[in-house]
Amino acid sequence: MEKRITVLGGDGIGPEVMTQAIKVLDAVGLRFGHTFHYDYQLIGGAAIEETGHPLPDETTASCTESDAVLLGAIGHPKYSDPTLKIRPEQGLLAIRKELGLYCNVRPVTAYSGLLDMSPLKNERIKGVDFVIYRELIGGIYFGESGRSEDGKYAFDKCEYYDHEIERIVRKSFEEAKNRRSHVTLVDKANVLESSRLWREVFDKVSAEYPKVETDYLYIDNACMQMILNPRRFDVVVTSNIFGDIISDEGSVIAGSLGLLPSASIGEHFSLFEPVHGSWPEGAGFDIANPFAMVLSAAMMLQHFGLFEEAEAVKQAVNTCIEQDYLTADLNTIASKSCSEVGSYLSALLTAKTLA
Ligand code: IPM
Ligand code: MN
Repeated sequence: MEKRITVLGGDGIGPEVMTQAIKVLDAVGLRFGHTFHYDYQLIGGAAIEETGHPLPDETTASCTESDAVLLGAIGHPKYSDPTLKIRPEQGLLAIRKELGLYCNVRPVTAYSGLLDMSPLKNERIKGVDFVIYRELIGGIYFGESGRSEDGKYAFDKCEYYDHEIERIVRKSFEEAKNRRSHVTLVDKANVLESSRLWREVFDKVSAEYPKVETDYLYIDNACMQMILNPRRFDVVVTSNIFGDIISDEGSVIAGSLGLLPSASIGEHFSLFEPVHGSWPEGAGFDIANPFAMVLSAAMMLQHFGLFEEAEAVKQAVNTCIEQDYLTADLNTIASKSCSEVGSYLSALLTAKTLA
């Protein structure tokens, strides 16, 4: 198979973890006989530095001509002041919107070799395996917003059309069929009208999937249940902002934000990026955990229909965990560098013994 991939390293540790994902993809190509062509482009703070714009037209054009997009991380300390007119995060929101990536998939897994890394009790998180379906291009993130002239009043509108809800809810039910057949809708339907629309649409779609069990949780309760009883979750579907919040909470179960990958899927395009940010303080030291980026690349392989290949990448990550071949966030005593972990993953993938 031959694929063209737009590579957006972005800011901070983004380019470093991306280098490891590319090593891994090249190893997959070698072992399974695929060719991946990479087109490197700018986004975020790095793009502002070069072009004055967080999402240059050339970047968008490349993404629309590729089979998929890989993204490292976005966020730059020079532009961290949220009152600035031009900020790196705008590049991320714009690329999601322009590519129509409405469905953001964020799996949360408790690896048995890493249970001690979580501040939560082992017996509570053992076996946790759920996936968050976060709506990504609507809601309060993209509604009308503004500020009065005297600066004393501000607003952000949370807006959803039924069709925007339906397409992601449908995706979550399709996913549930391949898993434990349970979908939880997380909302705030006791207060918000938009949440009541989510429930209506959810019930309508649910009727088409009689074998899939469902329940609803209010966002405040869901945050609590995720800590008290995370094994109760299989597929969670929710709005943009609620999904943003609970996915960071989910990383506490995994033990490190450096472990969570994500896939953002639209009708025509797809983008794969870690849940974590750009960690500017860690940039340049070769200490970031590349797993989230590498596992995002595995989600891309899966999206291409390369299931055996995706499984091999996940297996290589598992082997690193079992052998304690880990970066400092997961191994404080004898840690490996970001590039050492990347090289080891690629060596595991090309090793004959694995084949
Ligand atoms: C995420 C991030 C982004 C979001 C930020 C950087 C705009 O937190 O992908 O979860 O809020 O969507
Ligand atoms: Mn977030």
